[in-house]
Amino acid sequence: MTPKSPAPTAVEAADSSRTFSNPLQASRPRLLVLGAGGQVGNSLLRLCQSADSPMHVLGLTRSQAPLDQPDLFGSAVAQAIESFKPSHILNAAAYTAVDQAEKEPELAHRVNGQALAQLSELAAQHSAQASQDIAILHYSTDYVFDGQKPVGQAYQPKDPTAPEGVYGKSKYAGEQALAQGPSPSLVLRTSWVFSDHGRNFVKTMLRLGQSQQELRVVADQWGAPTSSDAIARASLAIVQQWPKPSQAPSNQVLHFCCEGTTSWHGFACDILDRSRRLAPELAWTITSAQQIKAITSSEFAAPAPRPANSQLDCSLTEKQFGLKRPHWSEALNDVLVRLLAKPLG
Ligand SMILES: NC(=O)c1ccc[n+]([C@@H]2O[C@H](COP(=O)([O-])OP(=O)(O)OC[C@H]3O[C@@H](n4cnc5c(N)ncnc54)[C@H](OP(=O)(O)O)[C@@H]3O)[C@@H](O)[C@H]2O)c1
Repeated sequence: MTPKSPAPTAVEAADSSRTFSNPLQASRPRLLVLGAGGQVGNSLLRLCQSADSPMHVLGLTRSQAPLDQPDLFGSAVAQAIESFKPSHILNAAAYTAVDQAEKEPELAHRVNGQALAQLSELAAQHSAQASQDIAILHYSTDYVFDGQKPVGQAYQPKDPTAPEGVYGKSKYAGEQALAQGPSPSLVLRTSWVFSDHGRNFVKTMLRLGQSQQELRVVADQWGAPTSSDAIARASLAIVQQWPKPSQAPSNQVLHFCCEGTTSWHGFACDILDRSRRLAPELAWTITSAQQIKAITSSEFAAPAPRPANSQLDCSLTEKQFGLKRPHWSEALNDVLVRLLAKPLG
């Protein structure tokens, strides 16, 4: 892959005479979720298992379906497809350690890239056996862009990609594997994911806000913090509408993130300001925004490069699926209320 060369991000299926056929989908979608232990996977399972959910769901964790072990992964997914008969596979599993990926490029490419080619093949093989199509909803990232667009101009799904670090390149390889694979696929690129579950920036800020006297946070990267619950809600709305039974199977790339834009510094200030108001009884050591210093990306010197502009234009996704996106601050509030009600893990 040449990361600087523009590449198509939406590919129509070669055989447009074939239409999507899945009788189960017309009634109640059956979702096989990979990466069930991660932020997005956990939100998907939680929402699907709520009493009023119209979904059937089966989640597989990393140990049940390891994407870095092709044989085990292949047999686990094949078995799950045969027994559960999903209408959709939602792949929330990924190698997401952005800096560590610089030291483990092969592993990152296997998990985020090659495993997607395998998944598309597996779904197609089983679709053929069962005469019923299985569609793949996959998540990708703002890091497929180099972020050189002026801040204020959001990236469109069809804008040329130019990932800079290993993580971004590996995620882009996964997008391409699905675009070239035999199964219908929809890739949702998202950004700056946070949750009350797993590791993320919000939980780090809560911990540091109760232990440090001063924080230094990058102020020259811009994007939309997005809760895993917002992604899961959007995903469930999408799978109820996609693919339409009359549609030719296709591969598409779309964007989904929360409304609004901020910098990591702005996000940190908001997290701690809200948290102090929501839980004044906690022993905050950061008690004002003056203790949160704005620094540049070069001062922070992370091992992997990050895009300066991570803004994703989601208008096509909103239009195609009638979605309404929450503002990131509203999504943050929901997560903080849950997080601050329990001891920080
Ligand atoms: N986090 C972000 O800020 C962000 C931003 C943009 C896009 N995205 C994309 O959004 C999607 C969901 O991200 P997330 O935030 O939910 O990530 P996450 O919390 O890191 O979850 C990823 C899941 O994948 C699992 N996993 C890692 N390596 C695996 C392997 N070899 N085989 C099977 N499973 C493996 C992890 O297992 P363990 O829990 O055992 O490690 C974890 O459960 C990913 O595609 C990611 O690239 C995330």
